[in-house]
Amino acid sequence: MNHTKRWKRRAGTFAFVVVMAGCSGGGTASEPLVQEFPPGWRYPQADSPLSAAHGMVVSTDSLASAAGLSMLQAGGNAVDAAVATGFTLAVVNPEAGNIGGGGFLVARMADDTRVALDYREKAPLAATADMYLDADGRVTDAGVLGHLASGVPGSVAGMEAAWSRFGTLPWADLLEPAIRLARDGFVIAPRHLSSVGARAELLLRFPSTAAVFLPGGEPPQIGSVFRQPDLARALQSIADEGAAAFYAGWIADSTVAEMDRGGGLITHEDLASYDAVWRDPVVLDYRGHEVITMPPPSSGGVTMGQILNIVESFDLASMGWLSADHVHVAVEGMRRAYADRNYFLGDPDFVEIPMGRLLSQAYADSLAGTIDMRLASDSRAFNRVPEESTQTTHYSIVDREGNAVAVTTTINSWFGSKVVVRGAGYLLNNEMDDFTSKPGVPNQFGLVQGEANAIAPGKRMLSAMTPTIVVGPEGRTELVTGTPGGATIITTIFQAVTNHVDFGLPVRASVDAPRFHHQHLPDLLRYEPSGLPPAIVQELQRRGHVLEERTGISGDVQSIHVLEDGTLLGAADRRRGGQALGY
Ligand code: GLY
Repeated sequence: MNHTKRWKRRAGTFAFVVVMAGCSGGGTASEPLVQEFPPGWRYPQADSPLSAAHGMVVSTDSLASAAGLSMLQAGGNAVDAAVATGFTLAVVNPEAGNIGGGGFLVARMADDTRVALDYREKAPLAATADMYLDADGRVTDAGVLGHLASGVPGSVAGMEAAWSRFGTLPWADLLEPAIRLARDGFVIAPRHLSSVGARAELLLRFPSTAAVFLPGGEPPQIGSVFRQPDLARALQSIADEGAAAFYAGWIADSTVAEMDRGGGLITHEDLASYDAVWRDPVVLDYRGHEVITMPPPSSGGVTMGQILNIVESFDLASMGWLSADHVHVAVEGMRRAYADRNYFLGDPDFVEIPMGRLLSQAYADSLAGTIDMRLASDSRAFNRVPEESTQTTHYSIVDREGNAVAVTTTINSWFGSKVVVRGAGYLLNNEMDDFTSKPGVPNQFGLVQGEANAIAPGKRMLSAMTPTIVVGPEGRTELVTGTPGGATIITTIFQAVTNHVDFGLPVRASVDAPRFHHQHLPDLLRYEPSGLPPAIVQELQRRGHVLEERTGISGDVQSIHVLEDGTLLGAADRRRGGQALGY
């Protein structure tokens, strides 16, 4: 497919100009240049992606990308690099990268093996459905802040499971950069810990956390060296003994002692029984492309799949990128898919999910048939029973063999529960808030969820994380992508996929492009500041959409576009200052 044709025109008053850089784009030896974003949009379009011939790592932090890249250059594969990047993010991006949280990994190996690894946190065995309700039945903040907010962490088990199955380098080598950066420190740049100051009041409530992030009561200074000796010791033990050190050794003792000090629930039994699970990825066909993505307990793959299936009935390309018709159809797809998400989805080990029906084209077509191009639908018509934290992180990797890995990981809020485990130096997640504390009552980020995602002992809380790989019609991996952003993750990656497949946006432009979001309830079409042209906003309002120009940014996408000749084009999102590195 010649993606450049898709960039010809858009509806409304704005015309895009496409200039060819070398050959045709979208799968050929280079990409088209896109010359116009909406007026006032924060990023220019002139910048190029990073280009590399052999291997690439794109993450939210240059030191983490460098750690992954060093594994590729040492002869390791994409999974080795993913493990090294993941552990390094726990050190250099502790507000989201983690060993105290969980995540999902989607990979397509060079031999076409496709896998999805679930290392989502689990509710402790002593958890109960109403544990976050007070005597009057009101939801308390204990699911968000402090010891009771933490699920049993899965990240270390997940990294070990990925390495055991696919890794090629010695395990301890993969942790070496993380240990060095924790032990010897790294120089605080503006992006590192920029979030500490804003959360100082919360972090100071926990002495073990304040000791790490607010020594002397103040955030570390830009330009100073930030060391985490306790975390370095924990990582060294994991390097020496494997995940057992975290789930049964002295780190487990420290975790349980921390729980005892703060009234948390995680016990030795919870830790010892934690397991990461290999699951069948969601694989769907979208306009001749295969989209490989994460199944439940993430809602990401199913919900994005439903949106893609719904919009497939419409010729998005001929509507033009960011035209009123394009945004209208996409939003109507989002509205319908999120209504199903919030009702049907939960941990597949606990609830029956009608996967076949939800992902069937016939069902999508029936939903598409209810879309009126002239008028926004009413969300109440699709009522079944969301927004989540944006404090997650994603990285994408491709190696010289063509193995591709997409990983999204989280401790939920910035700094998770805000509790650092004394002696082990790591932050615990507050993932329990991703469960339904009370059906119909929004969680901290506005998600209104149902019984399928109710709390139960040992159950995994529903996620929105959507690590995704797009395979082209010729069977070649074309795009590796993912993002943080809570409930907006799904719609952001839906836009990454359609930007690639329908509109042929070059990867740099796709990552820089403005994003919009709808999640059924609240019935709002949210978009980034200056992210939609005023004429399109007016037209969407005329059709009955309620629009909100959100504050701040949406997502932190890390994408790699693989060209037909094998060239890797990487784009890290400028929104948080990430970095693509390759060789
Ligand atoms: N905590 C965000 C997510 O898992 O979707």
